[in-house]
Amino acid sequence: MKRFQILFFTAFLFLCANLLFAQINAPSPIPDRVVLNLTENPATSVAITWRTDVSVSEGFCELQPAAEGPLKKEDSKTFKAKTTTIKYEYGDEPVIDANQHSFIFTDLIPGKKYIYRVGASDFWSEWFEYQTPSVENDKFSFIYFGDPQNDLKSQWSRVIRSAYRHAPDCGFMLYCGDLINRAGRDVEWHEWFHAGSFIYGMVPQVMTPGNHDYNDLMLDPHWNAQFTQPTNGPKGLEGTCFVIDYKNLRIISIDSAVDSELENENGYPMQAQKVWLDSVLQANTKKWVIVTTHLPFYSPKENRDNKHLRKHFQPILEKYKVDLVLSGHDHSYGRGRVSDNPQAGHKVMYVVSVSGPKMYEAGDKDWMEHSGADKQLYQLISIDGNELSYQSYTASGELFDEFILNK
Ligand SMILES: [Fe+2]
Repeated sequence: MKRFQILFFTAFLFLCANLLFAQINAPSPIPDRVVLNLTENPATSVAITWRTDVSVSEGFCELQPAAEGPLKKEDSKTFKAKTTTIKYEYGDEPVIDANQHSFIFTDLIPGKKYIYRVGASDFWSEWFEYQTPSVENDKFSFIYFGDPQNDLKSQWSRVIRSAYRHAPDCGFMLYCGDLINRAGRDVEWHEWFHAGSFIYGMVPQVMTPGNHDYNDLMLDPHWNAQFTQPTNGPKGLEGTCFVIDYKNLRIISIDSAVDSELENENGYPMQAQKVWLDSVLQANTKKWVIVTTHLPFYSPKENRDNKHLRKHFQPILEKYKVDLVLSGHDHSYGRGRVSDNPQAGHKVMYVVSVSGPKMYEAGDKDWMEHSGADKQLYQLISIDGNELSYQSYTASGELFDEFILNK
């Protein structure tokens, strides 16, 4: 009898442990995955998204100017968020039922530090600090990451944390896609959120999707549920193709992962983005323009090339003198100022980088002024009037590449 009890107890413990581990990514009534995203008007607004379990049917944000000490509850304004119930399913992994809550703070004062928290009833996040950018065109910086994609908790975490330690006052963090490896897989998003943790609640995140953020031509359902990005791109590409003006910079996200990496050159996603890109560049009033997209225009890797991107988008980028294209996908580093057009009056600077630990070799291609492999990197880009300074750092904090662009 005693033996039977021990066996039963052991089996019970095993089952509990299994359930515990299987559900490590499950939501609770307490808000988690709190993330800020830039809006079209960063000086006066910012978007916030978070997650709870489905028992929390409403979400609220509380906001007040950052106090010097203990905050007073009566100084807060309360806003009701939009709540969407969503089911995340991936293979035979446990289904995750979640409520995603999102809100856009508007009418903020430029250059002002606020504190906010999110939640409902007895379940609240901590208070996060966030400072809106000023309306002046003074110096600011941002971080650019190539693909995080793999071993997000174990090995990518040190890269985002190093970047944050290096530039905690950066205006935003920008990703060139493949944030995780398998689109729709919630346990990988759990790792991505673990890696950046509170940083996402303090520094707005800007992301363009990669091919690993799509599955079977469908965008990962997490993308627009857990991020609240601008919807000012072509119809059907909301949250993936958009434009943001940040101080004297225009940032344009082109979705090069959609429609099987835009292989169908006559398809709507390619044609609509071309027309839209031309229109937002024509209307641009900002001094600097940076395009972010997943597939590189020029590849460091020997057997890879994305001629179709160059054919369709490069003439537009050159016509409007775009300064810089930031990309990922190739899991190595390459950077150069180049054009397919021998008559080009303006040459764009193209960069390919990687932040996660998955590595490919870098080839020996003519277009590259600087290249490298087997390095996890983050880039610190600063804009100060007529000067853009760019530095690439390794995971261990060594300067790996740098250049300056002048107007
Ligand atoms: Fe990719």
